[in-house]
Formats: sequence, C-alpha cells, structure tokens
Amino acid sequence: MSNNKRVLTGITTSGTPHLGNLVGAIRPAIKSSGDQSTSSFLFLADYHSLIKSQDPNLTHGSSFEIAAAWLACGLEPEVVTFYRQSDIPEIMELAWILSCITAKGLMNRAHAYKAALAHNSEQGISDLDKGIFMGLFNYPVLMAADILAFNADVVPVGKDQKQHIEMTRDIAARFNHLYGDVFNLPEALISESTGVLPGIDGQKMSKSYNNTIPIFLEEKALLKMVRKIKTNSLEPGVPKDPTNCNVFKLFKAFASETETKDLESRYYEGIAWGEAKNVLFELLNAELSELRENYNEIIGDRKKLEETLVHGAGKARETASVVLKDVRHAVGIKSFTS
Ligand code: TRP
Repeated sequence: MSNNKRVLTGITTSGTPHLGNLVGAIRPAIKSSGDQSTSSFLFLADYHSLIKSQDPNLTHGSSFEIAAAWLACGLEPEVVTFYRQSDIPEIMELAWILSCITAKGLMNRAHAYKAALAHNSEQGISDLDKGIFMGLFNYPVLMAADILAFNADVVPVGKDQKQHIEMTRDIAARFNHLYGDVFNLPEALISESTGVLPGIDGQKMSKSYNNTIPIFLEEKALLKMVRKIKTNSLEPGVPKDPTNCNVFKLFKAFASETETKDLESRYYEGIAWGEAKNVLFELLNAELSELRENYNEIIGDRKKLEETLVHGAGKARETASVVLKDVRHAVGIKSFTS
C-alpha cells in the first residue's frame, strides 16, 4: 500500500447528472486524481440515496447514470478507486460500530435533521419528529463510516457538507480516545466555487429546484434548455451587464479566458439575448458532444460498466478490510485464539 494522501468523495445517486455536478464535483475530482502524490477514492453513495428516495427505479437508474457520467467525463478507473458504496460491506459494519459511540446529542445538531424539525414546526405540526426517519437522523454516521473505512486524509465537498466532516472528526476522535489510535482525522476541502453555477431560473443549479441542465442531453434538447434560461428584458442594442447574467455565468464556467472577454465586450455592445444564447449553446455543445458520445458508448455496454465497478469494489475492499480488521480488534470483536 502506498503512503499517498487519500482523497475521498462520494456522490449520492438520486438524480440525473447535470452541469452543476460537472463543474462543481466531476471536473475538479478528475483533475485532482491526476496528482501523483494522492490516491483518489470516488464512490457512488447509493445507500445514501435511500434517505431521500424510496423509488427503487430512481436509485438504480441514477446509480447507473452517475457511474456512466464519471467515466464519460474522463475518470480513469485504473488510476483511481471507483466503486459503489453498497459493494463494500465494511462500510455498513463500521456504521454500526460508530453509531454505538456517537452521542445522540451530536446528531440532534445535524443541519439536515434540524431542517426537517424546523419544517414541521413551520407547518404547525406538534410532533416535530413526524415523517423523519432514522436514515436521515443517522446520515452523518453513515457518512463518517464512508470516510473512516478508508482512513481518508482529505474530503472534497460542497459547503453544505462541512458540518458532516466536522462530525466525522468528532466521531473518529471519540473512537480513538476510547479504543486507541485507529482513525486519522480527515480534513474537509471546501471548494468555494461549488454550487455557484446558476440553473435555468437563476437559482443555484440543483435537482431540488428543478432547474438543471443535464450533461448528456441530445443537441436539440440542449438548445431548447438554453433558450429557457432566464434573462432580463433588455432589447437588442442596449448594453448589458455580464456580471449578473445567468447566460454569462454558464458561459464563463466552460469558456477560455479569451472567449469570456470576447463575450463580455459583446454584452457592452448590446448583444441580443437570442444571440447570447446561441453563443452559449455553441460552446456547450462543442464541449459536451464528445462527452455525450462517450456516454452513449458506455451506456451501450452495461456489462463493462458493471465489471468496472466490481473491480473497483475489489480494490476498495483491500483498503477497507485492513481498517476494519484494526477496528474490530480494537473494540474486542475478534477470534478467541488471536
Ligand atoms: N452526502 C454527500 C452529499 O450529499 C455525499 C456523500 C456521501 C459523501 N458520503 C460521503 C461525500 C463521503 C464525501 C464523503 O453531497
């Protein structure tokens, strides 16, 4: 096993991959996986999907789409460890062990749980726990297990996940205090740019707002989406401000510096919205058409994708099984003869 720094991140499989995922997670993770001094662990958080959705087709379909998306965007399964959470029994085992030493009070403070309580309170519901399930409550423990099963050093996440990494550190430190030093305390790597990509309505691009542009739309559908992006009602010929414009922000996320400067001057010259959208569409289409081809090829060979993930799980378990051996031993779950 190499002494490389372990970088680990997971993607919940409860939606269709969109441009926000591409810019915020997929591109940076693939880029950093090229760094020789790190080992990357990238996984499909399919058990996390059950917290949000009880639709088996959605969970299954989304796992497939997201796996294919990563590969289509250039992830090299030989270079990184790429796997499905559900293929790693060590994660589930660790989640139980960690839950036995995690204070309930710590979980009471988790943002997702508190938001659910607040929602009930706003609705005037007297039982604040109504409709809240243990999966949501335990979510930070499962996430800690995802991370600690690999003794990860660095966890790149969006700002909304920062608290979960802090909780992971708390849980790891408590375990080490009780049982001896088994876990490394992981650091969050918060990408400030994560989530700033606007959706077609101008809010953050997110599947919960229903405003996403999927990465692998066919050309016509992509053009239709781009046409829907919200702009103000300034007429052609009237100078426009690029700084607060959704079309411009999307353009910038994919364009070179020169291309961005060019479009910027066209805004000041009063480009028409229809034309600005054409320019955006051309850029996106050029950028995405190769990915779309890769994607279509990958989804045409389900067997190969399955094999890739099974192989990745084998690699992942080589690491996780070593950690779990130490964990079991530390807590006193071990053979009578060793
Ligand atoms: N909860 C994360 C999200 O919704 C996904 C995730 C699950 C994750 N397990 C993880 C991210 C472990 C980093 C490390 O974005």
